[in-house]
Amino acid sequence: TQKHKVVVIGSGNWGSTIGKILAENTREHTDMFEEDVSMWVFEEDVDVPDDGTLRDQLGDKPVKLTHAINTAHQNIKYLPGIKLPDNLVANPDLQDTVRGATILVFNLPHQFMSKTLEQIKGHHLPYARAISCVKGVDISEGTVKLYSELIMEKLGIYCGSLSGANIASEVAAEYLCETTIGYDGPPMDYKEPDGSSRDNLIKVDKQHQSKSSPSQLSLHPVPQNYPHVDSALLEKLFGRPYFSVRVVRDVSGVALGGALKNIVALAAGFVAGKGWGENTKAAVIRIGILEMVRFGCLWFPQSVDERTFTKESAGIADVIASTSAGRNFHSACHAVEQGVTVDEIEKKELGGQKLQGTSTTRAVYEFLDKQGQLEKFPLFMFVHDILGERTTMDALPGLLIKGSKVM
Ligand code: NAD
Ligand code: 13P
Repeated sequence: TQKHKVVVIGSGNWGSTIGKILAENTREHTDMFEEDVSMWVFEEDVDVPDDGTLRDQLGDKPVKLTHAINTAHQNIKYLPGIKLPDNLVANPDLQDTVRGATILVFNLPHQFMSKTLEQIKGHHLPYARAISCVKGVDISEGTVKLYSELIMEKLGIYCGSLSGANIASEVAAEYLCETTIGYDGPPMDYKEPDGSSRDNLIKVDKQHQSKSSPSQLSLHPVPQNYPHVDSALLEKLFGRPYFSVRVVRDVSGVALGGALKNIVALAAGFVAGKGWGENTKAAVIRIGILEMVRFGCLWFPQSVDERTFTKESAGIADVIASTSAGRNFHSACHAVEQGVTVDEIEKKELGGQKLQGTSTTRAVYEFLDKQGQLEKFPLFMFVHDILGERTTMDALPGLLIKGSKVM
């Protein structure tokens, strides 16, 4: 049988952590996967930290990030201090990275996804399968799309999603956590309604697409001599003793949980920055979760399972972790404390890492405004207005009282 070639596209804080997990697993399951995992790195020159061992390996002048990863086996800019497996191989060439890969794992800040997909198009295997770890939504021309959808649409390959309470630095340090994978790819024994074989294109109803997307997609079947990509394979590829994976069928709920919780995390950060304490934060979280569920049910009515938000790591657990320790939370908190905007804190404090919450809030607001549905999302609206300095934190108590009645 053939082995799957697994690659990861993106090498930031979470991209490198997922790359580490994948490479640990491909090394353990060489019957199913090629051992080396290529990781596409957006190339840049990086300073070498003042650390004896690193300076011995890399010198004291700025080096290419790919060189640092392949020589010192550390992402010294985005995941410093964490040893990466030596079968995780950094590659600055995107098209070369995806060539021949059967499993593509997308792990980029959502801001860079559209352009990256354009560059990949035509260079990937038509029967590849993908998982999106991207937390965000694409809003364009009045529609809302998940990145798993955008990948399917732009590349014509099936894509599931992965999301959970997964602060990257903690996962990289191998502290126990859970994650959720949404996957409803075609089964091994798939037959067309007329009984024809898997050699034909597989026409699948994309239950997990938003109202605005096409409902069918023609997929190339993965050749029979590869291990079938199903929940058991995904557990082998992503699960670690410190990273517990649950696979569910609700791809859109998983992806939306990861995107929308960032708006709630910003709100919690604003509250913390004001020093208003845990009761206020809990009220914001409660209303935030209700708005997440409402958004999912409104725009992904055939697919979102409310239980993903309330019972899975990609829902409630990620909200808890992100409203206590995420970058969006801390940045919002520091912005209020210092009397500056969140965008300024991102530039000043994040060392090149990218916040997902600010652009998600603006995009979701714009979408809801176009749809005439803003009134149903008072917390999302409030976060948007605080970001744009259109309101002040003094408006929050009124909003919480209104919000509790709207729900
Ligand atoms: P990051 O914010 O740490 O890093 C920024 C990344 O963007 C770097 O890899 C950089 O090379 C890349 N980049 C910069 N300019 C670019 C360009 N023009 N084109 C392409 N890439 C460019 O990234 P991250 O934390 O790995 O985030 C990836 C996704 O993972 C996000 O959607 C995020 O929400 C999600 N996520 C992050 C965490 C976390 O704790 N960091 C946890 C779970 C999920
Ligand atoms: P931040 O991007 O706010 O750090 O959130 C990380 C995350 O998604 C944890 O699950």
